[in-house]
This record gives sequence, structure tokens and C-alpha cells, in this order.
Amino acid sequence: MAYDFTTSTCREDTNAEKYTLREELFGTEDVLPVWVADMDIDTPNFVLESVKKRLEHSVMGYEEVPQSAFQAQIDWMQKEHGIRFSLEDMLYSHSVVASMGVAIEAFSEVGQKIIVQTPVYPPFFHSVSHAKRKVLKNSLKLLKSGKYTFDGDDLRAKIDDDTKLLLLCSPHNPVGRVWKKEELEEILAICLEKNIIVFADEIHSDLVYAPHVHIPFASLSEEARNITLTAIGVGKTFNMAGFAMSTMAIPNKTLRVKFKEVYERIHFAQGSTLSHVAFESAYINGKEWLEALKVHLYTNFHMLEKLCLDFPSMLKITPIEGTYLAWIDCRGMDLRDKELRVFFIQEAKLGLNAGLSFGREGSGFMRLNFAVSSTRMLQIVQRLESALKKRI
Ligand SMILES: Cc1ncc(COP(=O)(O)O)c(C=O)c1O
Repeated sequence: MAYDFTTSTCREDTNAEKYTLREELFGTEDVLPVWVADMDIDTPNFVLESVKKRLEHSVMGYEEVPQSAFQAQIDWMQKEHGIRFSLEDMLYSHSVVASMGVAIEAFSEVGQKIIVQTPVYPPFFHSVSHAKRKVLKNSLKLLKSGKYTFDGDDLRAKIDDDTKLLLLCSPHNPVGRVWKKEELEEILAICLEKNIIVFADEIHSDLVYAPHVHIPFASLSEEARNITLTAIGVGKTFNMAGFAMSTMAIPNKTLRVKFKEVYERIHFAQGSTLSHVAFESAYINGKEWLEALKVHLYTNFHMLEKLCLDFPSMLKITPIEGTYLAWIDCRGMDLRDKELRVFFIQEAKLGLNAGLSFGREGSGFMRLNFAVSSTRMLQIVQRLESALKKRI
């Protein structure tokens, strides 16, 4: 079936965070919002249809996540990513960030250290400090090619007896890396040597562009499986963040029991009836749509890349391997971070995430969400191009 991504449904008249908070964040409604990591692309029909069907039944009481929903996810993970989880490994979660908070509480004490690899999605370090733990920063290394990699030496040198957990972002938001086996194996070796548990946030794992391949951290070896808690879901893949449903896969029983102590105290419950059917439908019906989506997303990225190549002294786009988030190096513009933000808001009329919000290493960078229709992408590129031309 052919899918059409040329246009998408207007979200202005909904409660979409991306639109509603424009005034508060950018001081104006007159920006195209390209910040929050959801898509301005219609959630696929098979998902919406499953919800409509469920609504034909008139009772919306408490419901358990059906085993068939977890099974659909398990089958998808096996087929798409070569890892086999079992039903007992899987726990419902309404939010990956909330699950991360549970893991931090379950596997560390107040004052202990948690490893965070910056620049990274801000809740990684906020979750640590909100829980009164210490952020142990293991910054990513920026290579001459513009790509990022881990800094294993720094990691090994910094870990001490008070360091308990590593928050891995794989694929990585915002730098767009899909970590290679060797890179993950280096991290694994250090974690095994130093007794570190890994929270692997793999929420972007389906949004990977060929020839890159997502390797689940837990799939590296039996030992990896034993120290890893994996967060996965359909929120990013099928634009379903509004359904608020993901899962934690924890094969090691001891870790699962420890995780569940905090999880049950907080009362994660079983989520929403409509999410259950939407989640299952996405995994069962989603493959073809996802393949078409990825082609579309890569075309959008390519438009942005081409624009950056036209202004090489000002912008350099970080090569992308996964996610729909472009990490743009704007240091050539010679602007302070505040001025860079003002340039994008007032001159380009675009609402991006400031690089600095992902950690100090993000200074001089901006993150642009290119998961939009092709019509919208053209507007984004035209706005940026015209603002850049005026700066020459
Ligand atoms: C790496 C990463 N983890 C987690 C989330 C948020 O997940 P959730 O909405 O399930 O808390 C995002 C959203 O942007 C993300 O990029």
C-alpha cells in the first residue's frame, strides 16, 4: 500500500504540547514548532481503527494489559532486532522517563552516582538530580567527522564504588547515533568489570536508517542480558506518545523484583484500555507503514542536509543514523547561545530546542525535529534558507 506523507492533519486546535507552549517557550506563536520529539505526521490508520473498534464496547473499566499486546511486542523485537524477551520479562509503563526514575530509585541510594552521556535528552540528567543522586558525566567524544562516539577511557577512569547505574541512550537523542556493536561492547565490558547496571533507553530503536542496524544492549551476550533493563515502545515509532504506553523488559529476575518494589510502591497500574489495543495493533500491523515512514523521514533529513551544505561556513549537520532529530552545529555562525536562539525564533521563525538544554556540550548546536509532512518540511527549509541568506 502507498502511504502519503505530503500533508498532515493540523494540530493547532488540539492540546499538542509542541503548539500550545510556543508562546511560553519562544515568546511568540509565530514559529513553526520543530522541538518536542513527536511527529507532525498522522498516527497510522490501523492504530486509530483499533481504538474505534474498542469504543464500540460501552464499558471502560480497569483492564489488564492483554498478554497478546506484550506478545506482539516480543515478536516484533525478535523479528526486527533479533532479541527474544519472554512474557514474564515485560512490565507496563506509562512513560520511559518514569521508568528511568524507578530504576534510579531501585538501584542506587541518595548521593550515589549515575552515569549520563551528554549531550543527551535532558530528563536523563534531570531524573538523576531530582532523585538526589549525582550525575557522573561521561561526555560523548565529538570526532572531526562531526560524528560522536563514547569515551571509554573517561568512563573507566571515573567510575568508583559509589557509581551504580548507567543511563544509555540507544539510538542516541540528540546526536543521531546508532551505536555499533564494538562501541556497545566496550561499554558492556566496563559495566561488567565495575558492576554497573544499565538502563537502556531504546525508545528510538525502530527509527534507524539503512545500512545502520540497532543492536539491543541486552542482546550483546548473556551477561549483558543479566545487567540490562530495556525501555521500549511504540510512542516514537508510530507517533503514539499520546497513548502513553511503553514497556520495561527486565530478564534478570533479581533486578526485576527490585525494580518492581519501587514500581509497585509508586503504583504504575496497567494504563489505559485504549492504549492497550493501540499498542498491539501498531506492532501487528506496523511494518509496512514504518518502512514507508523511514523513507519519507530520510528525504526530509536530506533536504535539511542539502541546505546546510549550501551554507557551510554557518551550519554543519551531524550525520544521522537514527531518530528524526537533526543535530545542527551552528558554531560557524559565531553567535552566543542566546543569540542563536533569537536567530532561529525571530529571523527563521522556527522553534527548535537549544543545544545547551542537552548539556554544556550542546553549546552552539540546535536540535530540529524533521518528522513533518513534506509540505511542512519545504516551509521549514525555506524559512531557514531565507534567514541565512540575509546573514551573508
Ligand atoms: C530518548 C528518549 N527517551 C524517552 C523519551 C520520552 O519517553 P516517555 O514519553 O515515554 O517518557 C524521549 C522523548 O523524546 C526520548 O527521546
